[in-house]
Amino acid sequence: MKTGKVEKLITSDAIAVRVSTLANTIVKSMPTDLMIVVLLRGSFVFAADLIRALHAVGMHPQVDFLTLASYGRSTTSSGKVDIVRDLTEDMKGRDVLIIDDILDSGRTLHFAKHLIEGRGARTVKTTVLLEKPGKQLIDMHADFVGFQVEDKFVVGYGLDYANYYRELPYIGTIIV
Ligand code: IMP
Ligand code: MG
Repeated sequence: MKTGKVEKLITSDAIAVRVSTLANTIVKSMPTDLMIVVLLRGSFVFAADLIRALHAVGMHPQVDFLTLASYGRSTTSSGKVDIVRDLTEDMKGRDVLIIDDILDSGRTLHFAKHLIEGRGARTVKTTVLLEKPGKQLIDMHADFVGFQVEDKFVVGYGLDYANYYRELPYIGTIIV
């Protein structure tokens, strides 16, 4: 059981405001009938809020889930990404929005984008709640970014440390 205290970095109110402005930006550049792919597990809370914000601006997405595992956060690893649980919907001809929690090295989102393009999607755009600027090891940027955060390990609002802290309504960092 993890008992570390968490220092708040982004409040739930700030997240709610940002999610709603993101939806306003997304609706201007994507068709209403889009296919959303939620990358599990970290982005489930963000996705739940974002799809309702998209509803509020008149979008009618379908939703699918993709579980990926990325290995080797260390600099020496090959950075392999594996499919733990695959999509169930057909991506062919679809306009897809991939939702992820955080863009760090960029490997997970890069893998997901290429996988979905390879399945015949018409367009693939990406959104992340958080981005750590300058950490991307490969050339990967998200189309819609919630917040930039400094290079600290963050938890809450779906993001975990050892599968704990996902339930926090805010984003924070663990203080030992
Ligand atoms: P990337 O493939 O290096 O971009 O890493 C992306 C994934 O690593 C995210 O979807 C998260 O699940 C996880 N991750 C990266 N940084 C953090 C963090 O600070 N806190 C929690 N999870 C993180
Ligand atoms: Mg993740």
